[in-house]
Amino acid sequence: MNDITRIGNEPFGGYYKPKDRPVDDELSRVGPGTPCGEYLRRFWHPVMMSERIGDRPLLLRVLGEDLVLFRDLSGDVGLVHKHCSHRGMSLEFGIVGKHGIRCAYHGWCFASSGQIMETPGESPRSVLKERIFHGAYPAVEYKGLVFAYFGPPETKPAFPRLDMMELSDNEMVPWQIHSPCNWLQVSENSMDPYHTPFLHTRMSGVQFEEAWGELPVVDFHERDLGYFYTNARRSGDNIWVRIHDHLLPNFSQNGALYERGEVVRYFGRSSLTRWVTPIDDTNTYVIAWRNLNAMDDPDRRARRDEIGWESVDFYGQSAHRPDPQRLSNPGDWDAWVGQGPINSHAREHLGGTDQGVRLLRNALRKGIRDLQRGIEPVRPEGSSGGPVPTFAGDTIVRVPRGTGDDRKLILETSRRVAEAYVNHQHLPDAERRAAITRDLEPLNVVA
Ligand code: FES
Ligand SMILES: [Fe+2]
Repeated sequence: MNDITRIGNEPFGGYYKPKDRPVDDELSRVGPGTPCGEYLRRFWHPVMMSERIGDRPLLLRVLGEDLVLFRDLSGDVGLVHKHCSHRGMSLEFGIVGKHGIRCAYHGWCFASSGQIMETPGESPRSVLKERIFHGAYPAVEYKGLVFAYFGPPETKPAFPRLDMMELSDNEMVPWQIHSPCNWLQVSENSMDPYHTPFLHTRMSGVQFEEAWGELPVVDFHERDLGYFYTNARRSGDNIWVRIHDHLLPNFSQNGALYERGEVVRYFGRSSLTRWVTPIDDTNTYVIAWRNLNAMDDPDRRARRDEIGWESVDFYGQSAHRPDPQRLSNPGDWDAWVGQGPINSHAREHLGGTDQGVRLLRNALRKGIRDLQRGIEPVRPEGSSGGPVPTFAGDTIVRVPRGTGDDRKLILETSRRVAEAYVNHQHLPDAERRAAITRDLEPLNVVA
């Protein structure tokens, strides 16, 4: 009992454990003026599925701000502050016009840019509408999702242009699901490949494929926009290398959902193109596309009719399961929501398998602190030369177990795969695929 370092670290020592759960404000707070909120406001984020915008303005909360999203009669989307600039009535009651929205209280009319078009009750000589702007954010619709930029207009990046968004023969189906918890714990799940053998396979039954039950050999690679990592396993005589993307701050892509590593193939692409958009400090949306294509899902196991609002066609992603089922067989949603409204980093005990979580937190902290010093983050803008290359997907090569350390062989193989992906990342898709295949085919050991 005299050894202070042991207090609480002995059997039945719960009494001595700290009971508070201090919050890591720097990474968790997303509201206006907070360090993380400012950083997040330097990026485009998806905010809503297009199909949710009906005839009426839609109330929305993003990054701790109350907003109204609408489609005007010319078909353009507008995203403006909820409370009218005149005397604060909610614009959810507004009347949508040809260009913009009109407040129901005294008829002020706002363009989507926030420009005040009319103040009908005021004298014709009034200059009120020339003097002020209503709060508004640029919003863009792309493949069924509305994206918005919440930062200073002068630092607005180009709309993100990622290779997956321009792939041929790939159907991108939007989906969106709410989680009542902080954004970071949802986002960190994608940098934690070690939960897959446990949560999804060994703990309460196989949720995806039995092959996911093997502890992967994981290797992280840094890039200017964030990270990608290889997540490799043995599957019989094959080595199955699965790659995930994580672009800062909140974007991720993973491999095929129903892969088992049984058939040799090269450069499969991502089944999910996904953002984690903070609603406020304790609520989050996953807003994403499910990528449907014949190559990554040859057996056509995807269930298109289950992909959409508050629903997606793979295990454990929402609250909408009966409690007994959720409690006995929890999924990703239960894992991140179960960490509490805001997880306390001070009460965690990170181990070797938490490398991805550490990397992500450190990178976010650096981005946040750089911005405070005036250094703007790198954003995934793409260029006229092409979209931003991403890597997520699966490669499977035939490399039977040798006489040496198999995990070392798996790591070496995954590094060869990563090298081929990086070396050819700037080629157009068909040439890229051909070049990667050419590089990786020799890895196969012929029986
Ligand atoms: S409160 Fe909106 S026009 Fe008066
Ligand atoms: Fe998961």
